[in-house]
Amino acid sequence: AAIKKYQFDIQVKNVSRLCHAKPIVTVNGRFPGPTIYVREGDRVLVNVTNHAQYNMSIHWHGLKQYRNGWADGPAYITQCPIKTGSSYTYDFNVTGQRGTLWWHAHILWLRATVYGAVVIMPKPGNPFPFPQPNREEVIILGEWWHSDVEEIERQGNKMGLPPNMSDAHTINGKPGPLFPCSEKHTFAMEVESGRTYLLRIINAALNDELFFAIAGHSLTVVEVDAVYTKPFTTQSILIAPGQTTNPQEYSNTKASQILFFQLFPNCLPPNDTESALSYNKKLRSLNTPQFLANVPQKVDRKLFYTIGFGKDSCPACVNGTRLLATLNNISFVMPETALLQAHYFNLKGVFKADFPDKPPKAFNYTGAPLTANLGTARATRLSKIAFNSTVELVLQDTNLLTVESHPFHLHGYNFFVVGTGIGNFDPVKDPAEYNLVDPIERNTVGVPTGGWTAIRFRADNPGVWFMHCHLELHTGWGLKTAFVVDNGPGSDQSILPPPKDLPPC
Ligand code: C2O
Repeated sequence: AAIKKYQFDIQVKNVSRLCHAKPIVTVNGRFPGPTIYVREGDRVLVNVTNHAQYNMSIHWHGLKQYRNGWADGPAYITQCPIKTGSSYTYDFNVTGQRGTLWWHAHILWLRATVYGAVVIMPKPGNPFPFPQPNREEVIILGEWWHSDVEEIERQGNKMGLPPNMSDAHTINGKPGPLFPCSEKHTFAMEVESGRTYLLRIINAALNDELFFAIAGHSLTVVEVDAVYTKPFTTQSILIAPGQTTNPQEYSNTKASQILFFQLFPNCLPPNDTESALSYNKKLRSLNTPQFLANVPQKVDRKLFYTIGFGKDSCPACVNGTRLLATLNNISFVMPETALLQAHYFNLKGVFKADFPDKPPKAFNYTGAPLTANLGTARATRLSKIAFNSTVELVLQDTNLLTVESHPFHLHGYNFFVVGTGIGNFDPVKDPAEYNLVDPIERNTVGVPTGGWTAIRFRADNPGVWFMHCHLELHTGWGLKTAFVVDNGPGSDQSILPPPKDLPPC
């Protein structure tokens, strides 16, 4: 194992796309930011120095950060922000994971431009469980906005309105030739007939689930969220914000050619629930005996969280109300002190560990839209989970105002997606159909529009771990909560002490 060191300088830089130049927040002046290349087992030190007039925090999306939430990065959850003029070193080990993950700013909407790939190569002597590709390439899907990201966020959060759509989708920061002034902002890849290419695809978009396809080629999915899958061949892949997928592309072109990449808006309806569900059902983990032993067959703690929207009065907003998004009818309020610090140092009054295991009352979750008597609460409430217990969480979309799909991301863990379906979760019939043999293991899962998804995991990583919808708009509206898992101090399974340079609150 090696020590890999990176320097991330947070800088504002003028970047031009679609004939417009504007200042954006970057790492080292690059958009997208640098790729972190590591090998399973390495220790990684990333020194982040903030030269910009924005608070900053970087999250290593999908890295488990065992016992080491201090390096996880979500602002006000595991650390306070790195202020202008200061530095913080994210110091972590990459253990038990190999594949494609990514990093991004985890404060307000700054991840719109502050993101990059994390490529973890397997240990020497552990080849990929699929044919060795001839070449590999990182492909990050993102968005370009003409307006300031803060302005868009303000529209979304304070006005209670959905913000403007982005002006273009991008591949590796480039919109492609269909847009004005974009000839040189086109991502292209030269390929040769009969060769195999490994694409490491990341969806860094703020608010859009995307389908990805290559004209005239099929794709074989071999890994998602840094977990190998049973290979399956498909014309297009579905990728939600926060998810990563490695398809291999078998080139069947006649001669060598250059593939130009262009994201077409609306090539499939973004809310194509049927395609999404059937795609997700095809994802299966490679079920080695060791893998099987990790899938919780029995559950110690059952959680049932409804996802909905609510309203709050807001004198400064359009119509005097603003939208909130809720889990069990609670819209999460961001604290001013990091939750992990509050927990570790036992600071009172920052949060309550009393998040309800189920909604206040059962109802027909996916029936007619419910608009009256929402009774939405706003609070900083977390759920306390016993260390090493097995957890089942059912995320149920509801028609509280409207049904919608939600990519849910859990920090600190991978989980197994044991079931998913449309309509109301049936606590008797649906568990009988769970896949406990080769469920896909991942860190971000789509909850289908008007449906549910069941996940299981073992709470073996002590810390305070954020869980949220990876659509930035919904997160901003409060669609998030966190889990506290602790094993008490003084053992080799306890939360590590905080690093000396942890940013103060
Ligand atoms: Cu990729 Cu909490 O985020």
